[in-house]
Amino acid sequence: MKILAAGGAGFVGSNFIHYWRKHHPWDTLVCVDALKRRGNLRNLGEAFESPNFAFIEADITDQPTIESILKVEKPDVVINFAAAGRESGRADLCLETNVTGTVRLLEACVNSGVPRFHQVSTADVYGAISLGDDHQIYETEAPRPGSVYAASKAAADAFVLACGSEKAIAVTISRCTANYGPSQTPNALIPETIIHALHNQDIDAPGTGQNVRDWTFVEDHCRAIDRILFNGEPGEIYNVASGAERSDIETVQTLCDALGKSAVQLENVPLPGPKDKLFTVNADKIHDELNWTPRTTWSSGIKTTYEWYLHHMDWWDDQKK
Ligand SMILES: NC(=O)c1ccc[n+]([C@@H]2O[C@H](COP(=O)([O-])OP(=O)(O)OC[C@H]3O[C@@H](n4cnc5c(N)ncnc54)[C@H](O)[C@@H]3O)[C@@H](O)[C@H]2O)c1
Repeated sequence: MKILAAGGAGFVGSNFIHYWRKHHPWDTLVCVDALKRRGNLRNLGEAFESPNFAFIEADITDQPTIESILKVEKPDVVINFAAAGRESGRADLCLETNVTGTVRLLEACVNSGVPRFHQVSTADVYGAISLGDDHQIYETEAPRPGSVYAASKAAADAFVLACGSEKAIAVTISRCTANYGPSQTPNALIPETIIHALHNQDIDAPGTGQNVRDWTFVEDHCRAIDRILFNGEPGEIYNVASGAERSDIETVQTLCDALGKSAVQLENVPLPGPKDKLFTVNADKIHDELNWTPRTTWSSGIKTTYEWYLHHMDWWDDQKK
């Protein structure tokens, strides 16, 4: 099989490329990335040594270029990891990359005869529920995006599903909760906490620190995409969540304890209140239909993550430039 991973030089995409090379070494991978913001060729590391791997610098909003790449490469599957992230907070950027980029990539796939497309979406499209509410968010839930990033991802998902029903291309979507693991950009909560703890700097959890997130180890997310590619039903959405729900303050505290930095100041920690949110989804569908379960526990995933940052200080120094 030949897979083209758009946005494969970022956090999730590069972990996917390493995951796929390990579990499907006979397959061919082509990474297409515009190397914007968090895209980094260093994330792809030893993939470059493989004859079954190629990197092409290109922008998914540039449809003619993408189309010519697809016509030459003829992938069996295109996976779209390319995105402008939540941290940009810029509606124009999210619209251009996440909506226009996805639509042009899809159109290019259809025009080049690519039979299969997977959209890496996010659980953020559903918004959050109030802490303490036991409402379950299934794939049938209407999106209620709480950020311009989530709104653009929800809009892209709608285009993907519509294109799948109108055109000759089989599409699927995954909506995973917050990821953590190696090579995540240093301004995300877990790497930022590790880096601040190592520098003995004060750490501020976002908001009140009491928002609760489900955390999925990035390799488990990659394995969920693997299951969907092989066994997912065209036209279907699959939620992905690991059940590791932690408040931001618990996450910060866990990392400080693990790094032996109990002296780090945790600023003004209030008690959980009615405005605090829970960010998670129900993942029964991928569990029941595709036999996916997370394999990485919170404690082992956190250990793997901080050990990676401890051993790759040059990587995150480079990322901050
Ligand atoms: N990080 C998470 O916690 C998380 C959780 C669930 C879903 N996701 C989804 O996974 C995907 C990847 O997220 P990430 O955290 O790896 O982001 P990232 O920012 O680390 O990676 C995005 C990649 O896309 C590339 N890119 C951006 N614009 C592009 C363009 N116009 N053309 C080609 N490449 C472009 C960037 O260079 C980068 O390599 C996103 O779609 C995101 O919604 C992420």
